[in-house]
Amino acid sequence: ETANGAFDFNSALFPLSASGAGYTALGTPNTPNFDLGGQQSLERNKSLTFLNGLSLVIGLIIGSGIFSSPASVNSNAGSPGAALIVWVVSGILAWTGAASYAELGGAIPLNGGAQVYLSKIFGEWAGFLFTWSAVTVLKPGSAAIIAIIFGEYMVRAVIGADALEVSPWINKGVAMLGLLSVTGLNCVSTRLGTRSADLFMFLKFIGLLAISTLGIIVAVTGFASNKAALSSAWRDTNWFEGTSTSTSQWAVALYAGLWAYDGWDNTNYVVGEMINPGRDLPRTIHTSLPLVILAYILANLSYIFVLPADVINASNTVAVAFGQVVLGRVGSLILALVVSGSCFGALNATTFTAGRLVYSAGKEGYIPSLFGTIGISRGNNQQMRLPRRSARAKRLTRFIADEQGFFHTPIFAMGLNAVITAIYIIIGDFTTLTTFYGVASYLFYFAAVVGLIILRVKEPELERPYKCWIVTPIIFCCVSLFLLSRAIFAKPMQALVVVAFIAVGVPLFWWRVGSRGRGRGKSEKWNWKFWRRWGRG
Ligand code: ARG
Repeated sequence: ETANGAFDFNSALFPLSASGAGYTALGTPNTPNFDLGGQQSLERNKSLTFLNGLSLVIGLIIGSGIFSSPASVNSNAGSPGAALIVWVVSGILAWTGAASYAELGGAIPLNGGAQVYLSKIFGEWAGFLFTWSAVTVLKPGSAAIIAIIFGEYMVRAVIGADALEVSPWINKGVAMLGLLSVTGLNCVSTRLGTRSADLFMFLKFIGLLAISTLGIIVAVTGFASNKAALSSAWRDTNWFEGTSTSTSQWAVALYAGLWAYDGWDNTNYVVGEMINPGRDLPRTIHTSLPLVILAYILANLSYIFVLPADVINASNTVAVAFGQVVLGRVGSLILALVVSGSCFGALNATTFTAGRLVYSAGKEGYIPSLFGTIGISRGNNQQMRLPRRSARAKRLTRFIADEQGFFHTPIFAMGLNAVITAIYIIIGDFTTLTTFYGVASYLFYFAAVVGLIILRVKEPELERPYKCWIVTPIIFCCVSLFLLSRAIFAKPMQALVVVAFIAVGVPLFWWRVGSRGRGRGKSEKWNWKFWRRWGRG
C-alpha cells in the first residue's frame, strides 16, 4: 500500500523501483514543471476524434491480409466451411483483445499502448521490454511486411498482372518509395496523417464492398469474364469436406487469420491525444471490429463463389486472381491497385502510431532524447507565422497544417522508424518476419490482458470509463496461450530466438533506466494518482 491508498505494483513486483528512487511525495508532485515523460507536447494537443480512432484501427487492420492470407487459411483449414470458421474465430479473438485493450486504455488514458499498461501493472521494466521489442522489431517488422506487399502489387498493377518475373529489387524499391512517402506525409503534420488515414479507410471499404458485391452477383447470375476458370463447386459439394483434424494446422490457419485482423491495438497508442477516450475508444473498438469481421466474411464468401479451392489454396494473390476471373485483365489490374492502396493506407496508419511510440521512448530516456523531440525548430511550440498568401493557399494550409503549423510532429522518431523499417525491407524475408511477429506480439498482448485481470483484482476501485465483460479477457488469454504453446512446440528454436531477443532488453533496461539517479528517471508519471489526474486533463 502506498500513501494514497493505492497498491504500488512497481514496488511489489519489481524491487528495482521499490527503492523509491525518483518518487517524490506520493501523488503530490512538488515541482511545477515536472517531467511529463512522453506525454507532454503531443498529448497537450488533444485532437483525435472518434472518426480518427476508427480510421486508425480499420486503416491498419485492413491491409494486406484479407487479400493474401486466404491461401494459408483455406489450405490449412482444409475446407471452405472450416476456413470461414477460422475467419470468424480469429475475428472474435481480435475483438476480445481489442475490447480488453479498450478497458485498459480508458483506465490508463495515456499514449503508448502496451508500453504504459505493462509499466503500470508490472513495473517499468515490462513496459521497457515491450518498447524495446516494438521499436526494434514489431513496428518496423510489420511495416516492412506491409510495404513489401505494397511494392509487389504496385509493380504488378503498373507492369501488368502477368509480368510476375520482375526482380525482387524492383519490388523492394517500390516498397521503399511507399515507406518514404508515408513517412514524409506523417512528418508534415498530424492532420495530414489522420486525413489520409480517413481517406484510405473509405477506399478500403469501397474495395471490399466491391469484391463482396461482385462475388454475390457472380454467384447469382453466373456472370464472369473468364467462365472457364469460374468455380461452381460450392453449389454441389459439402462445404466441410476435407476439414483438417490436426491442431497444428488449425493453429497455422488461425495465425494467418489473426495477421489479417492484427492492428486492433492501433488506437491505444494515441489514447492520450483523444478528445474523449473514455467514450470514443470503446466506441471505436465496438464499431470497427464487427464491421471488419463482416467485411472479411463477405470477401471470403466471394472468393469461394468465384475461385476453385485449389486456386485459393495456391495463390497468395487471391484478390488478383478474383479480379482476373470476374473482369478479365482490367479486373486484375484494378484489384492490384486496390490491394496496393490498402497496403499504403495500412502503412500510413502504422507509421502514425509507430512514430509516437518511438517518440515516447525518447521522452522516457529509453533511447537518445533526440527522438523524443518535436519538429525541426527550437521554438516548436509557438504558433507558426505564415507569410502572406492568397486565400486559397491559406485554406489549403489550414486544411493540411496543424494548429502549430507544419512539422509539429515527432519527425526524428518517424525517421528512426523509417530507417529500421527500410533495413527490414532490404534484408527481410517474409516468412521469418511474420513468424517472429506473431509470437512476439501475442506474447505482449497476452501479458497486457493478464495485466487487466490483475488490475481488476488489485485495483477494483480504479476509475474505468469502460469495463469489458470479464469473460472477454479470459477467452483472449486462453486462446493466445494455446497459440503461443503451439508455436513453441512446433518451432522451439524460433521461439527461443524471440525470447532471447526480448531478453537482450534486460541489460539495456539497466543501462538506460536502472542507472538513473534520484529525481530523474522514474518520473511522477508512474505514480498512480498523478497519471490519473493528468490523464483526465
Ligand atoms: N492486419 C494487417 C494486414 O492485414 C497487418 C497489421 C500489422 N500489425 C501491425 N501492428 N502493424 O496487413
